[in-house]
Amino acid sequence: MKKRILTGDRPTGRLHLGHYIGSLKSRVDLQDDYEEFILIADVQALTTHFDKPELIHQSIFDVAMDNLSVGLDENKVTIVQQSMVGAIAELTIFYSMLVTVPQLSHNPTIKTEAKNYGYKEMTYGFLGYPVSQTADITFCNADLVPVGDDQIPHIEMARKIVRKFNDLYGTNITEPEAKLSSVGRLSGLDGNAKMGKSMGNALYLSDSPETVWEKVRNGVTDTNRISVKIPGNPDVCAIYKYHQAFSPDEAGNISSMCRNAAIGCVACKKKLAETLNAILDPIRARRNYFENHIDEVKDIISAGTEKANKIGNENLLAIKEKMHVKL
Ligand code: TRP
Repeated sequence: MKKRILTGDRPTGRLHLGHYIGSLKSRVDLQDDYEEFILIADVQALTTHFDKPELIHQSIFDVAMDNLSVGLDENKVTIVQQSMVGAIAELTIFYSMLVTVPQLSHNPTIKTEAKNYGYKEMTYGFLGYPVSQTADITFCNADLVPVGDDQIPHIEMARKIVRKFNDLYGTNITEPEAKLSSVGRLSGLDGNAKMGKSMGNALYLSDSPETVWEKVRNGVTDTNRISVKIPGNPDVCAIYKYHQAFSPDEAGNISSMCRNAAIGCVACKKKLAETLNAILDPIRARRNYFENHIDEVKDIISAGTEKANKIGNENLLAIKEKMHVKL
């Protein structure tokens, strides 16, 4: 029996290169050896974007297409629409009895996000999303959750909830483990520590070659290098970080050329745009196919969600039985 993986994205826009490096790439690598569930977390998206339901609806398709375009095979992975899996909502309610408000308000990721969104006060739904995320992960008894380090507090919370739940009710829900992505966070081309939609520095998987060049061209290099004739310092160059992330074999060479003033910043940026476009070209081609076959995308999500409901309902019934939630 293959182990189960569950991972998720919030549909609040298209996915970008940060998602690709941090998660999508490993999803593709893992799809043969694991039974993989990709959750499109449209309810979780509402916790921050409750006033933008149309954006969330459109983004469900964008996120599905982004996942399929990077090479996830719809015959191997299960793509699930969170809001359509009733068992997740029900489990969320049961789990919520076992989590205190301070546990949630002290969660470092909740704190950071609340600050980034400028929340003076948090809604009940936003504060509680790690509980709902625990239900996302456990409705199908996922063993592993591939995540970036910001999600670790949530997985810790999930493990705690599951342990307590199993102890209390004698259930056998799987305690999930985080699978930390080996590559660190992708920084922004603008020099910001993180690439993100909300930071306005995202390079989207669906960006055209021209847009990629435009964004790379505007990227930050060593600001002390005022002429191509003087040596540069790749350590302080945002562009160089991308060479390291996307063409690691070539990065050493690029670094020494920069330090020896053997390559200028424009040429170096052209090289990076070429590297990125070589990665993105096949992704764009597959996305183009799905954009023209949106009914197929819909069918893939429907079929995955149906499978998730079967599994979720069966597990939920057994859990409710143990909890004496019955007549
Ligand atoms: N919180 C995750 C993020 O912001 C998205 C997510 C929702 C998720 N449900 C999940 C991730 C379940 C892993 C497992 O990226």
